Amino acid sequence: MMRDGSLNELLLIFLSKKGSYVSGEEISEKFGVSRTAVWKQVNHLRKLGYEIDSVPRVGYCLKRSPDLLLPEEIIQNSRLEFLARKIYHYPSIGSTNDEAKKLAQNGAPHGTLVIAEEQTGGKGRLGRRWVSPPRKGIWLSIILRPSLEPYQAPRITMTCAVAAAKAIRKVTGIDCRIKWPNDLLVKGKKVAGILTEMSADMDSINFVVTGIGINVNNTNFPKEIIETATSLKLASGKNVDRLKILTEFLSQFEVVYRCLEDGEFGKVLEEWRQLSCNLGKRVRIIGRNYELEGLALDVDGNGALLVKTNEGTVERVLSGDVSL
Ligand code: BTN
Repeated sequence: MMRDGSLNELLLIFLSKKGSYVSGEEISEKFGVSRTAVWKQVNHLRKLGYEIDSVPRVGYCLKRSPDLLLPEEIIQNSRLEFLARKIYHYPSIGSTNDEAKKLAQNGAPHGTLVIAEEQTGGKGRLGRRWVSPPRKGIWLSIILRPSLEPYQAPRITMTCAVAAAKAIRKVTGIDCRIKWPNDLLVKGKKVAGILTEMSADMDSINFVVTGIGINVNNTNFPKEIIETATSLKLASGKNVDRLKILTEFLSQFEVVYRCLEDGEFGKVLEEWRQLSCNLGKRVRIIGRNYELEGLALDVDGNGALLVKTNEGTVERVLSGDVSL
């Protein structure tokens, strides 16, 4: 009934029955297995943390799911077209981005989702680490095979940022903003970060992996980031349902991504502008080998920040960290 690496069909049945009883007989007939096999499978789910009631001669009823981002839960709770048709879920992994890159190299299809409850080697931009404790946040990567030129790849990060900010705002009501180029902030503190990696040659993209880490229910951070990081729980004062944020993010991502593919990136750009916390403000940008200060005027369609310097020139900034 449950094959390794495939969907747990019993769980799918329980989830689709939404709290009503389903008889052991019905399940055993459906899968052509014995009642004992069904019972074993129910116990397997219980070990994962599923609360399943069993009433003799009536059947089983799923009362409560644990806080896990299992593929069956994602499928049952979202209506997606191209995204997450294939899902790889790991209780613990080094980095979902690294795993996604391996899968993409081996031909994993457009839209594949790689998600983990914990990352032991979560990566941030510029070689930084991304703290990803078990079940506290959403740590995921999406494999994309976009029809874009390599120089347009920052559009993927912008797409991801818009989708995540909209999802967070919709589910929690929190005023979540995008900080150029790849952060989401709540009250000036970082709640999520995006790391987009690409495999390309000079004029075509082979694949893109866009990874996002969203701090959902973290309540403590290592001292290096304690002043600058936050979570949705810290911002809202209550526990936040990770599955709700995740499924809303995935459906927003599909909508925004479709604009990108349909030549309507202007719409995404406009949403990015509305959600930005930098535009119209003074910024100091620290890049690999430069520092620049000025007024953030706008962002262009390929992710560059347009900054009016104190000397009056307008610079097109492609990368760096904003520290003002
Ligand atoms: C940053 O803010 O510098 C980017 C952080 C990106 C973190 C996510 S968590 C899922 C994915 N896997 C990783 O190793 N990193 C990204």
